[in-house]
Amino acid sequence: MKAMRIALLGAGTVASGVVRVLQRNQDELCRRAGRGIEVVAVAARDAAKARRAIGETLALTDDFMGLATREDVDIVAELMGGIEPARELVLAAIRAGKHVVTANKALLALHGNEIFAAAQEHGVMVAFEAAVAGGIPIIKAVREGLAANRIEWVAGIINGTTNFILSSMRDKGVDFATALAEAQRLGYAEADPTFDIDGVDAAHKITILCAIAFGVPVQFDRVHVQGIRDLETADIRYAEQLGYRIKLLGITRRAEDGIELRVHPTLIPATRLVANVEGAMNAVVVQGDAVGSTLFYGKGAGSEPTASSVIADLVDITRLHTADPEHRVPHLAFQPGALADTPILAMPQVRTSYYLRIHVRDEAGVLAEITHILAEHGMSIDALLQRPSGEDDQHTDVILLTHETLEQRMDQALARIQALDTVLAPVVRLRKEELR
Ligand code: HSE
Repeated sequence: MKAMRIALLGAGTVASGVVRVLQRNQDELCRRAGRGIEVVAVAARDAAKARRAIGETLALTDDFMGLATREDVDIVAELMGGIEPARELVLAAIRAGKHVVTANKALLALHGNEIFAAAQEHGVMVAFEAAVAGGIPIIKAVREGLAANRIEWVAGIINGTTNFILSSMRDKGVDFATALAEAQRLGYAEADPTFDIDGVDAAHKITILCAIAFGVPVQFDRVHVQGIRDLETADIRYAEQLGYRIKLLGITRRAEDGIELRVHPTLIPATRLVANVEGAMNAVVVQGDAVGSTLFYGKGAGSEPTASSVIADLVDITRLHTADPEHRVPHLAFQPGALADTPILAMPQVRTSYYLRIHVRDEAGVLAEITHILAEHGMSIDALLQRPSGEDDQHTDVILLTHETLEQRMDQALARIQALDTVLAPVVRLRKEELR
């Protein structure tokens, strides 16, 4: 049978992995897919750089649009990243009747609804396993493997750069800037690491997971995003003394009145498996009503791990492309006409528990005042530590863990606590999840 013909848009790290793994495993892939999978050409801006990535044999072009819409191409693999021109190329490929594979989480988080609607209209598939957690097959797991379940929540370490930085801060006791510099030196963090450390990359990914877990449109504009830039080593240490680790988690949860969708540094019990995911590794926990808790662990980035997901999508499309479009797996796991309009909750409506570090004057009645305010707002304290703050014996750090409450209540209580003249610095507030 004639091989499936692939156009690669982009010739960077992921494309080089795709080319290498397709060549290395071609017999195995042919046995799986039922026919060969062959790259017909690669589009790249810098030919010399592209040659170093993909070798000398494949045809190279700088005409991205020409390749994306070329008559003899079956699948366009968009591996260039960024919004434009990736969006324009993907939409053009879809309109030209090509199936699309993309690793581009930003594109899907921001324009997924438009892209999936176009794919539906033109009867083609858009596959995106590599867009979330690199080599971990989490999209397929949630969309297909867990299809029996009413998903309750998904929580993931879905950014390797920040996990590497947090691991260094904990292991070596270094501050954020030192850990970031080390991540950059070792090639884990980009020269401009903003999207990673400010939580935006994780927000793109949890937005996609939210859509396929709960059958709602992708809604990047509704995600609450907080990165790790302001995290202090002291809080990692105190959290540890209380039996917790701090991880940058993407969390999406089905709540009573809507869906929670958030990314922030989170205390999780040190005894949870996911708390022990260190360095640049990724892990996603999915809680389903039937299956209970499931954990998916692996490399969230890198040439061949990401290629592993891209090629799995190529195999899937090769197997399914002759199937009636109405009977393929829906892009967002639920039938397009059955997506729900369940609202994404604003942060004040979210329920979680908290870690507070309050730098206070060390005198009689200070702790009583703080606990009184928390009690007045209906909050119950779970644990308490008091530690010298290192300046002198006039000042101290009070560290509190609360039980679950509404974020709105915490906001109100914190405004009052912050206004006390015995509170000497901005209160550090981190969210805590038991992940039960
Ligand atoms: N920059 C991402 C990370 C990998 O650090 O995990 C690609 O999404």
